[in-house]
Formats: sequence, C-alpha cells, structure tokens
Amino acid sequence: MTPSLSERSSGKQFQVAMVGLGFGAEFLPIYQSHPNASLAAICRRNEAELNRIGDAFGINRRYTKYEEVLSDPEIDFVHINSPIGDHAWMSIEALKAGKHVMCTVPMATSVEDCQRICELVAETGLKYMMAETVVYSREFLFLKEMYEQGELGKIQYMQASHPQDMDGWPDYWERMVPMHYATHVVSPVLGLLNGRAEYVSCLGSGEVRDDIREKSGCSFAVESCHLKIAESNVAAHLWRTLYDTARQYRESFDVYGTKKSFEWTLVEGEEHVLHTAKKPEPEIAERITIPDYAHLLPESIRKFTQSIEDAGHLSFIQGGGHGGSHPHLVHEFLSALHEDRDPWPNATTSANWTCVGICAHESAQKGGEIVQLPQFTLV
Ligand SMILES: NC(=O)c1ccc[n+]([C@@H]2O[C@H](COP(=O)([O-])OP(=O)(O)OC[C@H]3O[C@@H](n4cnc5c(N)ncnc54)[C@H](O)[C@@H]3O)[C@@H](O)[C@H]2O)c1
Repeated sequence: MTPSLSERSSGKQFQVAMVGLGFGAEFLPIYQSHPNASLAAICRRNEAELNRIGDAFGINRRYTKYEEVLSDPEIDFVHINSPIGDHAWMSIEALKAGKHVMCTVPMATSVEDCQRICELVAETGLKYMMAETVVYSREFLFLKEMYEQGELGKIQYMQASHPQDMDGWPDYWERMVPMHYATHVVSPVLGLLNGRAEYVSCLGSGEVRDDIREKSGCSFAVESCHLKIAESNVAAHLWRTLYDTARQYRESFDVYGTKKSFEWTLVEGEEHVLHTAKKPEPEIAERITIPDYAHLLPESIRKFTQSIEDAGHLSFIQGGGHGGSHPHLVHEFLSALHEDRDPWPNATTSANWTCVGICAHESAQKGGEIVQLPQFTLV
C-alpha cells in the first residue's frame, strides 16, 4: 500500500515531480542526493526529450501531461520550471490538487494571479516557494552574514542591475517586458533587509526594434525603477533590459552602508569590491573573494554549489551558475516541508517581489507615476 503524505512526512522523505526539463534538469541530481527527497517523476511535453533525460537520470515515472502529475497521489510537491507564461496556472492547479509548490521565477506576470496563489496557500495550508536563485547565491549569503553581524553598519542605499541579451533564447522572451522578469534585482535589495516594497516609480528608456515592440507591446529598451521599502527610510534603484542594449550579462547588486559598502564587479569573472569607511583614500576599496556557503547544506549535496560537469548525466553544468544557489533552494524547501514552516521566500514575499516588476512596468507606462504595491503582498 502507498504510504500517506503524513506517513512519509514522519519518514522525512518527500516525493517531488520536476516539471520542465530545460533549466529544471539541473536540479535532478540535487534532489536525487538530498536525504529528505525522492525524485519520483519528471514531466515535459516532448516525449523523446523526456525519455532521454529519464534514461540519463534513471527516473522511471515519466509524464508528458501536467494533469497526470497532479493526479498522481504519490507526488507531494511539484517543482515547476516551465516557460514563464505557465508558472501561474500550473501553481494554481497544483495547489488545488493538494500539492506543495516550488516554482522558478517569476511567480506570475499579473497581480491577480499572484493574489490567487496567495489565497490558495492561505486556504489550503500548503507551502509555496518561488525559487529565487539570487537570494541563495554566495554573494547574497556573504552580504546577509555581514549585515547581520553589523559589519556594514546602517544600510543607506542599494542598487541592482540585470542586463541580459535574450536574442537566441526561447521565443516567449520576445513577448516579455523587461520588468516582468525583475525578481533577480528586486529580491536582493528587499531580501537583505527582510523588507517589503511599498511603492515604485519607473521610467522607460530608449526603444527596442519594431518586431520586439509588436510582440511584447512595450517599446522601452530599458526600464529603470526606484522602490521604497515599507517601514524603512531606505530606497533602492533597479534596472532591466532584455533586447537591443549592449551589455555583458550581469545580475548585480550593490549595497551601501555606513561602515562598509559592496559593489558588484563590472566584468563577469572579476572580483567584487568592498569599500571601508574612514580608511586612507587609496585603501578604501579592496577586491575580495567571496566564500562558499556549502557548509550550510547536508554533506550529500554540498558539491552542487561548485561547477561540476557530470559526463555520466549529460553535460549539465551544475551549480556554478547562479552563485551556487541551486542546492540551497532545494534544501530550503525540503527543510520547510520537514519542519512544517514557511519557506523563504513564502507566497506573500514572492508576490511582493514579483509585483514590484509588474507595478514598475505599469508606472513606466504612466510616465513614472508612483504605483503602490497591492496590500496582500505587504502582510
Ligand atoms: N536563475 C533563474 O532563476 C533561472 C534561470 C534559467 C531559467 N529560469 C526559469 O526557468 C524556466 C524555464 O527556463 P528554460 O530556459 O529551461 O526554458 P525552456 O523553454 O528551455 O524549457 C521549458 C521546459 O518546460 C517544459 N514545458 C513547457 N510547457 C510544459 C507543460 N505544459 N507541461 C510540462 N512541461 C512543459 C518544456 O518541455 C521544457 O522542458 C523559465 O521560466 C525561466 O524563467 C530561471
């Protein structure tokens, strides 16, 4: 007889189905190595690709239809890595089917869908976590540790950028507006202070080529947003671009404190800079090496914070991208299930981070008018 969810919970193993096997495939060996997870099933629409990955990772239960995942009584939670337009409805259907949800970013592309997910989480008591890589990157964990130990002093200002040239990526990106994929810049500035955004003001700048404008309905090449953090006097500046702006890929955040400030390197692969107040001018800035935080993880998944090319399991580069965050995300969600607590970020935090981008685009369309974040994201 199949054990019930509660029986399995006491056995501390949760059955996960991975949905979407592009980026999602990078998480498969991590789940297979985590002591509290059992990688029960995989799902993608293309059957040949599904079988290729199922064979490579030794996963027998394979679904081409998402509905089949949801009607499988053995699945405790889904980890959704489908294209952006599918995140919201897939999360909603999973919660309705009684499954916990881990979903890649963003939570949704409308305020209404974010609200529906938060309502379902509140009604069902199920867990929802947006798998935001930046707040489990080694840079974020390093800054959070420095901040909590008082080394930065009082935070005065933060800024974050995410320029990425999306030419050559799946074509649904052409229908996106820059600020609808903004959680990589929103999350570090709010996450560091554990704050919520209260309101935003955003300007659109420049223009994309005609075909991108027609598909996305947005002419701006860059969206540049200021946000105000609720119950705080700290503001932050964020900017995003997807097309037609020359810049190497970067997901950066800078933090300015009274004692120390951190600035992300301008060129990928170079060391970041730490500034210390009141030193002789030539000594204020120093290049630093960011430590790894694998020691926070169960021994069996520590290796996934580093770049590993596992030739036996296709050529996925594990963990090296996204600041070594992937095993930390898996561990946080499984720990939340195991300890029966909210994961971080939980549903309303994920909604606040996601709605910053949605409200920012609305503001840009109104010439920079202030737009308040919806109340349900502030609780
Ligand atoms: N740093 C990050 O957080 C980060 C990085 C990369 C990608 N992502 C996110 O991951 C998601 C996937 O990105 P990608 O580059 O792998 O995209 P992709 O389009 O290459 O892959 C999407 C996968 O989802 C599957 N899929 C689509 N519709 C489905 C359905 N109805 N049922 C089952 N499976 C379905 C596809 O078969 C494919 O395997 C995107 O939303 C992207 O935003 C996040």
